[in-house]
Amino acid sequence: MPGQIGEPQLHFWLVLLVFALAAQTFILLLWVNAPYGRFARDGWGPTIPARAAWILFESPAVVVFTCVYFAGDQAFTLVPLVLLGAWLFHYLVRTLVFPFRMRETGKRVPAVIVAMAILFNVLNAYINARWISHLGSYADDWLVSLPFLAGLTLFASGWLLNQHADRVLLRLRKPGETHYSIPRGGIYRYVSCPNYLGEIIEWTGWAVMTWSLAGLAFAVFTAANLLPRALATHRWYRKQFPDYPSGRRAIIPFLV
Ligand SMILES: NC(=O)c1ccc[n+]([C@@H]2O[C@H](COP(=O)([O-])OP(=O)(O)OC[C@H]3O[C@@H](n4cnc5c(N)ncnc54)[C@H](OP(=O)(O)O)[C@@H]3O)[C@@H](O)[C@H]2O)c1
Repeated sequence: MPGQIGEPQLHFWLVLLVFALAAQTFILLLWVNAPYGRFARDGWGPTIPARAAWILFESPAVVVFTCVYFAGDQAFTLVPLVLLGAWLFHYLVRTLVFPFRMRETGKRVPAVIVAMAILFNVLNAYINARWISHLGSYADDWLVSLPFLAGLTLFASGWLLNQHADRVLLRLRKPGETHYSIPRGGIYRYVSCPNYLGEIIEWTGWAVMTWSLAGLAFAVFTAANLLPRALATHRWYRKQFPDYPSGRRAIIPFLV
C-alpha cells in the first residue's frame, strides 16, 4: 500500500532512535549519576533488590533476541548462527552468572531504572537480532573476512578485559562486607573502570563483526552510557580515598 512503511524502514528508524537515545543518555549522565551501585540513593520511587533487578533487565537481551532471531529467514545459516553464539555467550554470562557473583549487600535498584533498561534491551535485541537473521545478508566466507576477524578479536579481548576487571572488583569484598576499597594491580594501575573499557571494546567489536548500523548504534550507546559513569566513578574514588593513585585515569589509559 502506498505510504505504508515496510519493516526495513521501521528497523532503520529504530536504529536511529538508539543513536538519539545515546546522545540523550550521554548528556543526561554528565549531570545525573544513574542511581544504582555506588551511586544508589533515595528519591527514585519503589526499588527492587539488585540481584533480581540485574536478572530482570538483562533477560530481554537473551529471550527477545533469541525469539526475534529464530523468526528470521536466515536463522539457520552459518554466519548468523555464529553471531547468535557470540551475543548469547555474552548475555548468558551477564544475565545468569554475573548477578550471582555480586556480593549480597542489600543494595536495591529503582524500578524506574529497571523499566528503562528493559525497554532499551527489548529495542536493542530487536534491531540487532532482526538484522543478523533477517534484514542483513552474510555469505559463509564472511567468517574469513577482515572485518569479521578484526571484530571478533575486539569482541573477545573486550570480553576478557571486562571479565577480568569485574572479577577483581567482586573479590574486593569478603562475604558479608559492603564497603568499597581501591582495586589494584593489572590494568587497574592505569584506569579506574577497566570493566567499562572492556564493555565498550566488546560492542565495538560486535559492530565491526556484524558490519551493521544496528551494531554501531549499540556500541555508541554503550560508550554514551559508560563514559560519563566512568568519569563520575573516578571522581568518586579520588574524593573517597585521599591516597588514590594519582596517575590513574578514568577509562582510557594515559588519556581520559
Ligand atoms: N552495556 C552497557 O551499557 C552496560 C551498562 C551498565 C553496566 N554494564 C556492565 O555490567 C557490569 C556491572 O556494571 P556496574 O555499573 O555495576 O559496575 P561497577 O560499578 O564497577 O560494579 C561491579 C560490581 O563490583 C562491586 N564494586 C565496584 N567497585 C567496588 C569497589 N571499589 N570495592 C568493592 N566492590 C566494588 C559493585 O558493588 P556495588 O553494586 O555495591 O557498587 C558491583 O557488585 C560491568 O561489567 C559493566 O561493564 C554494561
